Amino acid sequence: MLILGIETSCDETAVAVVGDNGLMLSNTVATQVEVHARYGGIVPEVASRQHVLAMGPVVRKAVADAGVSWADIDAVAVTHGPGLAGSLIVGVNAAKGIAASLGKPLVGVNHLEGHIYGAWVQHPPQPMGAHKATPGASGSARVDFGIEPGFPLMCLIVSGGHTELVLMLGHPDNAAGSANAFSLKGETRDDAAGEAFDKAARVLGLPYPGGPEIQRLAENAPTTERFTRPYVRGSDDFSFSGLKSALIRRAREVGVYPAPEGGVDRQTVAALAKAFQSAVVDVLVRKTLEAAERHDCRGIVVAGGVAANKALRMKFVAESPLPVAVPHPSLCTDNGAMIAMSGMYRFKAGMVSDFSLDVDPGLRIGQ
Ligand code: KG4
Ligand code: ZN
Repeated sequence: MLILGIETSCDETAVAVVGDNGLMLSNTVATQVEVHARYGGIVPEVASRQHVLAMGPVVRKAVADAGVSWADIDAVAVTHGPGLAGSLIVGVNAAKGIAASLGKPLVGVNHLEGHIYGAWVQHPPQPMGAHKATPGASGSARVDFGIEPGFPLMCLIVSGGHTELVLMLGHPDNAAGSANAFSLKGETRDDAAGEAFDKAARVLGLPYPGGPEIQRLAENAPTTERFTRPYVRGSDDFSFSGLKSALIRRAREVGVYPAPEGGVDRQTVAALAKAFQSAVVDVLVRKTLEAAERHDCRGIVVAGGVAANKALRMKFVAESPLPVAVPHPSLCTDNGAMIAMSGMYRFKAGMVSDFSLDVDPGLRIGQ
């Protein structure tokens, strides 16, 4: 079985082909990061137009890289929400055009479910059964279950727009009456985790996107700063805006914000980056493990752009008593393979979309 997956919910035009057992045959991503970096964030109208420009070449490359012919594709999966309306429209219309011309089904995918399914994609391509849990010394490699540990799974989705704790009860199965296999348990009350990284980076004078920059600086930083962990006790919800305020306050005190004329002290900035990252990571790991225990989970999935964070991956692997799966770092940020994977499970369950599929910018998960 071959599924073409198309993702355009935000600022990546991404298309992939995924085959049997989740084997990733190609994964093409045209990022717009540099275009938006000029503005310090994503400009929706610019994003839509970049998708229009990139879509044709990216689709063609994904199919060529996979070494398959168009006629071999069994279904076309596409993100239809949540995300930026104008960006989603480009992907959904492209998917409709391709599916119609091939005479194959269209499968609308929830972007957040897609992030979770990134953990089922086999990357790098290798024969089924050859993969094993390989957190790696650096903590940067793919972390997988080896064998799916059964359900329920506690899934933490941490991206630029989302921070959600979702209980996954199984794979979607229309026939079994579990079309909605997800149940939302907690979410952020203010900033998303990735958004918090991006805002913290701006305070520290680092470029967008901030997460990778903070991770890089934190790596060799002194442990001389510390922030109170915002746990939001008694709830599975998150809150990161207080942490951001604490960072701003401290950055002012130590003279790195606003940046002084003569430039900032790099060590001080690095220490703040490290302290900020540690606080976010501690909260995400502890709350996920607590929720997993309360719901008798069999395993944990960590997904979304922030799941690429090395400190977060290492802490989950080190502290979780349950098996943990985190997609390969390149499949944590938006990509077509995760959409193809989610689409494959939906397609197998007979959950195809009709051609009136609309975009749903505010689509939720597990409700
Ligand atoms: O999932 P994603 O690509 O897009 C959304 O759906 O939002 O996530 C992007 C977010 C950005 O906020 C970025 O700063 C964050 O993921 N991010 C990271 C890392 N890599 C990306 N945050 C922390 N550490 C990283 N290594
Ligand atoms: Zn995303």
